[in-house]
Amino acid sequence: MHVGVLTFVHIAATLAGTALGLAVPHTHAVHERRRVPHPRINQRVSADVLLPMRVGLKANAEALRSAEDWLMEVSHPSSPKFGQHWTSAEVIEAFGPSSETIETVAAWLGESGIAKERITHSDNKGWFAFDATVEEAERLLHTEFFHDGIEEDRGSMVGCNEYHLPKHIQDHVDYITPGVRGTLMDLHPSSQWKRAAAEGKRATSPSTPRHGKLMPKGAKLRNVDVVVGGLNLTLDTCDEYVLPECIQALYNFTAPEPNSTVSANNSLGIFEEGDFYAQDDFDTFFTLLTPYIPNGTHPIHDFVDGAKAPVVQALAGGESDLDFELAYPIIYPQTTTLYQTDDLYYAEGGASGIFNTFLDALDGSYCTYSAYNETGDDPTLDPVYPDPRPGGYKGELECGVYEPTNVITISYGVYENDLPYYYQERQCNEFLKLGLQGVSIFVASGDTGVGGYPDGTYGDGPAYGCLRDDDVFAPTQPNSCPWLTNVGATQINSGSSVYDAEVAADQNLSGFNYSSSGGFSNIFGIPSYQTDAIATYFADHDPSYPYYYDGNYLNATNGGLYNRNGRGIPDVAANGLNLAVVVEGDFTLEDGTSASSPIFASLINRIIEERIKVGKGSLGFINPTLYANPQVFHDITAGYNPGCGTLGFEAVSGWDPVTGLGTPDYPQLLELFLGLP
Ligand SMILES: *[C@@H]1O[C@H](CO)[C@@H](O)[C@H](O)[C@H]1NC(C)=O
Ligand SMILES: *[C@@H]1O[C@H](CO)[C@@H](O)[C@H](O)[C@H]1NC(C)=O
Ligand SMILES: *[C@@H]1O[C@H](CO)[C@@H](O)[C@H](O)[C@H]1NC(C)=O
Ligand SMILES: *[C@@H]1O[C@H](CO)[C@@H](O)[C@H](O)[C@H]1NC(C)=O
Ligand SMILES: *[C@@H]1O[C@H](CO)[C@@H](O)[C@H](O)[C@H]1NC(C)=O
Ligand SMILES: *[C@@H]1O[C@H](CO)[C@@H](O)[C@H](O)[C@H]1NC(C)=O
Ligand SMILES: *[C@@H]1O[C@H](CO)[C@@H](O)[C@H](O)[C@H]1NC(C)=O
Ligand SMILES: *[C@@H]1O[C@H](CO)[C@@H](O)[C@H](O)[C@H]1NC(C)=O
Ligand SMILES: *[C@@H]1O[C@H](CO)[C@@H](O)[C@H](O)[C@H]1NC(C)=O
Repeated sequence: MHVGVLTFVHIAATLAGTALGLAVPHTHAVHERRRVPHPRINQRVSADVLLPMRVGLKANAEALRSAEDWLMEVSHPSSPKFGQHWTSAEVIEAFGPSSETIETVAAWLGESGIAKERITHSDNKGWFAFDATVEEAERLLHTEFFHDGIEEDRGSMVGCNEYHLPKHIQDHVDYITPGVRGTLMDLHPSSQWKRAAAEGKRATSPSTPRHGKLMPKGAKLRNVDVVVGGLNLTLDTCDEYVLPECIQALYNFTAPEPNSTVSANNSLGIFEEGDFYAQDDFDTFFTLLTPYIPNGTHPIHDFVDGAKAPVVQALAGGESDLDFELAYPIIYPQTTTLYQTDDLYYAEGGASGIFNTFLDALDGSYCTYSAYNETGDDPTLDPVYPDPRPGGYKGELECGVYEPTNVITISYGVYENDLPYYYQERQCNEFLKLGLQGVSIFVASGDTGVGGYPDGTYGDGPAYGCLRDDDVFAPTQPNSCPWLTNVGATQINSGSSVYDAEVAADQNLSGFNYSSSGGFSNIFGIPSYQTDAIATYFADHDPSYPYYYDGNYLNATNGGLYNRNGRGIPDVAANGLNLAVVVEGDFTLEDGTSASSPIFASLINRIIEERIKVGKGSLGFINPTLYANPQVFHDITAGYNPGCGTLGFEAVSGWDPVTGLGTPDYPQLLELFLGLP
């Protein structure tokens, strides 16, 4: 799975057809060339086929270098511009290509016979699009186009092994598709598509919750205590059954007044994919645990690319039900917004990229944004729409159809090594842009300690799901992106009370060793806001493991296990063990950082609600404020996150790569954020 994705452009094979039909003028030079010909393209495309040409314009390289500074300017609590978030137009302007680039490339296309009227300039300014016959495109790029002849499953990949551009254009063009990167095309529109077997199977979400011990059914009474099937649940049983009241006591807040009026535009955004809520489960949960929330309370449906929800109770998903049943008791009467994403084929594993289509729906400019050698969604990793499969979403990819909510929580993810690094860098840059625009994003850190799922599954496969010789720690993604808030999990130890300190979540469960994911990214360096915290951690609590630098675990001659100069994971933590929820009609306990992220995100959503009441705005990227104010957390100083045959890291005083800064102290967090502009 890992290898398949990473080696896509490096496969060696022999193949005919590299000779060029046309002499290349001396004014031109090779712009892109495969080191070895593409193994899967070998048949010429007929001269009259229309190709959807895309010319990716070089983005302002300066913008990528300045991006962190721009984000800090609006997010650092000591910055005079704190909270002065950007509009989307300002973001597009800042990150797009320069006007010189736009004009130079447009002039070249015009001189080459591509009339202005045929060219579309994308809204994000990042590319020119036009249709050209193969003959025309081959003349323009001094190349020959081939395809791989595969039609039945997925259409044909059209591409070339090298192409040429005028030398004066090269500095302005990122790359062109179809080109060395192929474009997937249906060359025979009449051919029937068959439902393709999921090629790159989605890695199991590290945050998929586990159905835990079943509580006896037959709830009857609820006042301050809950009696479920003879169990008298109170604050004294929070070590076994985490009710909404337990979370309130842990983090010192009360449920909002259910009749209070709330801001119309501060709905809590919750991302789901391939897992669906059931209204009956919500209603049973409300009836048992939060009777002040009326039956029928449900999220606003912002569904992306053919996604559907809810489902009947028997098909309810443990992730969706959990996320909402944790959020509602914290924020109700504030509303939630469900970003259910992708049609069923893709949502259930037909693509390995989970978040790009969602980000496209929030930011139309991302659909075609070029950065880190990638423009738009990656057709080899992300869903491709329209989806011609039976039942597939037949519309065009949705771009910019929803306003992002002020807060978004995501309890899904994979591992850094499941996806190409450049893909993750481009996606991370989008999280940064959302932060610039005032959106706070929370992501569950994962449930597999410093390692991965053994063999990519819950089972006890041959491997731990770790890197190199199955020994190097495996960071999670998208958590490793420095521009979002990464939430790890804690637990109330058995026999402890809600007023005792929580410890890092770490449990040997039947069939699955659960511990809160943490560690150091192999892709992203230490962001400025985290520098001091990480330096202090290494100075005071240096873990004994050997390490390497710059993500170079493959050539770490000392057997290094983690990246010494990578972004630290997680930032914060919240409870993630024994959460009482209703799923598929059963009163159930669930575990996972999947619980921690919605809990933390809900608290921040409430704080934004309080800010709106006093005329202040959303918070955007909150990490710089959090790291500058560790006193607003309950520091977690016990527990480990085992994995890769080790104990993992240890939770210690101050920031650590197990529970981050700690769990929230709500009154302190509220005071801190109300005090900022
Ligand atoms: C549940 O236990 C508490 C104290 O532990 C007690 O006050 C309460 O009456 C009990 N409730 C029921 C319904 O048994
Ligand atoms: C809980 O918060 C209140 C303020 O809302 C504070 O007075 C109290 O001391 C806090 N309790 C704990 C245990 O921190
Ligand atoms: C809240 O509203 C409901 C119905 O609108 C009403 O029955 C109830 O008395 C109200 N409660 C409070 C505390 O205002
Ligand atoms: C909605 O939120 C924005 C900031 O996120 C604020 O400027 C605007 O006033 C809010 N509108 C309403 C109706 O609350
Ligand atoms: C709400 O729904 C639950 C589950 O379907 C049901 O048991 C309960 O009676 C309903 N309550 C009301 C007031 O309709
Ligand atoms: C982009 O691709 C070019 C060659 O196609 C390569 O030289 C360059 O290093 C790549 N840049 C990144 C950021 O991956
Ligand atoms: C999990 O099991 C291992 C081996 O049996 C044991 O060493 C470890 O302490 C257990 N961890 C927890 C959290 O119970
Ligand atoms: C859990 O971890 C222990 C070692 O701590 C190991 O012996 C056991 O096989 C693991 N269980 C699973 C299901 O991976
Ligand atoms: C090996 O590691 C060193 C030091 O981190 C780095 O400079 C070098 O590029 C790495 N070599 C390879 C092939 O990754």
